[in-house]
Amino acid sequence: MNQKSILILLTIISIVMITSTLTDCDNTRNPSTIQQNDTIPLTRHWESPIPHQEIPEGLSSISAASCGACHQEIYEEWKRSTHAVALQDLQFQAEWKKDSIISCLNCHTPLQNQQAFIVKGFINGDHKTPVKEPNPHFDQALQLESITCATCHVRDGHVIGTIGHTNAPHKTIKDVALLSEQICISCHNVVDELNPVLVCTFETGDEWNNNWAKKAGKTCISCHMPETERPIAAGMDNRRSHVHHFPGSGIPKFQDSKAEGLVSMEIKESRLDDSYAVGDTINYFLEIKNSFAGHAIPTGDPERFFLITFRLQDSRGNTIREETHRIGEHWQWYPVAKKLSDNNLKPLEERTYAFHHKLRKKGLFTLSVAITKHRMTEENAKYHDIFGKYPLSIEVFKKQFKFSIT
Ligand code: HEC
Ligand code: HEC
Ligand code: HEC
Ligand code: HEC
Ligand code: HEC
Repeated sequence: MNQKSILILLTIISIVMITSTLTDCDNTRNPSTIQQNDTIPLTRHWESPIPHQEIPEGLSSISAASCGACHQEIYEEWKRSTHAVALQDLQFQAEWKKDSIISCLNCHTPLQNQQAFIVKGFINGDHKTPVKEPNPHFDQALQLESITCATCHVRDGHVIGTIGHTNAPHKTIKDVALLSEQICISCHNVVDELNPVLVCTFETGDEWNNNWAKKAGKTCISCHMPETERPIAAGMDNRRSHVHHFPGSGIPKFQDSKAEGLVSMEIKESRLDDSYAVGDTINYFLEIKNSFAGHAIPTGDPERFFLITFRLQDSRGNTIREETHRIGEHWQWYPVAKKLSDNNLKPLEERTYAFHHKLRKKGLFTLSVAITKHRMTEENAKYHDIFGKYPLSIEVFKKQFKFSIT
């Protein structure tokens, strides 16, 4: 795999091969009728930001910081979420600097107010050549809040809520449909093609559809915004509320920080004895089941993967045998983007990984078993120059068995 193809192993694959006519770009018109420098208008929902929003009556700003003056706890939670740093994200910045595809902003800084330019279309449909004009209402401070409160809560001069009978000091409208899992799916489920080598592949919404979780009434919100009882604004009575730090993979985005993740796997394992005889075979089984995620694991970003590692060592620490299994996707990016394999663990799917080894020598031995979850490979992190800047993986499960062979 060369450096170029590594770059493409991204959430949204950000290399567009520019040709002189670009007639291979996906668009709504017959390629033969496209003239050079034709502006292709925006048609797909993620090509446009959320339209410009005015400040609802009763407020002086739509910034998260200003909401936080009254909704302190929710603000503090949101600040710890990856949503709050979707623009500052080191990998996002690395990709962004290399080839700034302006449409990336529609999910990472989704309000028009947060974007310096208003995009009218793309020359010949190419996302690298937007037709744009400066946005006179660009709010740079709001841009730095990435996926901010107003992304989900402000529309047409109103604060959107789901309670509807509060004494809020701001103009408020109840809209349960807007604040349903559909708002999550609008960003977390896009399978689309910009051109043959530039594709979007987030399928979390589709994975959630038609599985046990949806049937049981478990949505993105019930799992990722758990309910709690508390005052939702300073000085108010307790209400049913939703935690706003959006726990997910649990892989931290910052050095020396911890991220609260959710547990997806149910893990069962066989036992090993304390001692064996030369000639015996050890048989160890690890049974994992995606019992608690309402979608495949990993989900979303195709760069993510799990590793299951078995390592047998002697008393000096020499590795006698090591086996690694990977759960994730493999992609080909050239000449056309194509998923080659996908062994992500589907909802409720279970899989058994076994380690068998015939014992040939006397002594003391250790079998180490680990399940680790990875954001990306070290190779990709080095390519983006972010290696060592935040943890790339976390340990999900770890066990050590010590036994003697006599
Ligand atoms: C001056 C204080 C204040 C500010 C600033 C403020 N809110 Fe509120 N908000 C409240 C109060 C008080 C309530 C009602 C709480 C209650 O009745 O328990 C409320 C209610 C809400 C609700 C629930 C409404 C419903 O019907 O479900 C949402 C959502 C909300 N605010 C979001 C926001 C957002 C987003 C911002 C910033 C753009 C913001 N608020 C700014 C004080 C404020
Ligand atoms: C405007 C687009 C957008 C919306 C709406 C949105 N998300 Fe996200 N979400 C993102 C982006 C972008 C990231 C990644 C940020 C990063 O890693 O820098 C993310 C990250 C996450 C993560 C953390 C993933 C991890 O690494 O652990 C979870 C969980 C999540 N979102 C859940 C939700 C839920 C639940 C909703 C609906 C209530 C939602 N999102 C709505 C764009 C969005
Ligand atoms: C039944 C509970 C449940 C539902 C429903 C659910 N999730 Fe998750 N989600 C999880 C768990 C558990 C994890 C942690 C997976 C892991 O790290 O093993 C997770 C992880 C994630 C991640 C982090 C990426 C990753 O691979 O870990 C994102 C993003 C996410 N979920 C988004 C969503 C969205 C969007 C929806 C709605 C379409 C949704 N989830 C519905 C439980 C749920
Ligand atoms: C990614 C979307 C998203 C973002 C960002 C977001 N919220 Fe929410 N918020 C929701 C959803 C979804 C609900 C709950 C809807 C329901 O009742 O099921 C909610 C509920 C609320 C409520 C009602 C009380 C409660 O806890 O249920 C308040 C108040 C609120 N949010 C304030 C804020 C503030 C302030 C911010 C920014 C600091 C913010 N939200 C950021 C999606 C979001
Ligand atoms: C349709 C909405 C959407 C668009 C457009 C979009 N992203 Fe994202 N991006 C997301 C979501 C959702 C996540 C979180 C995925 C997850 O955790 O499963 C994310 C996460 C990321 C991450 C963090 C990955 C990680 O594991 O930490 C990077 C980097 C990123 N996007 C880069 C980009 C770039 C570069 C572009 C433009 C070429 C782009 N995104 C366009 C929705 C989008």
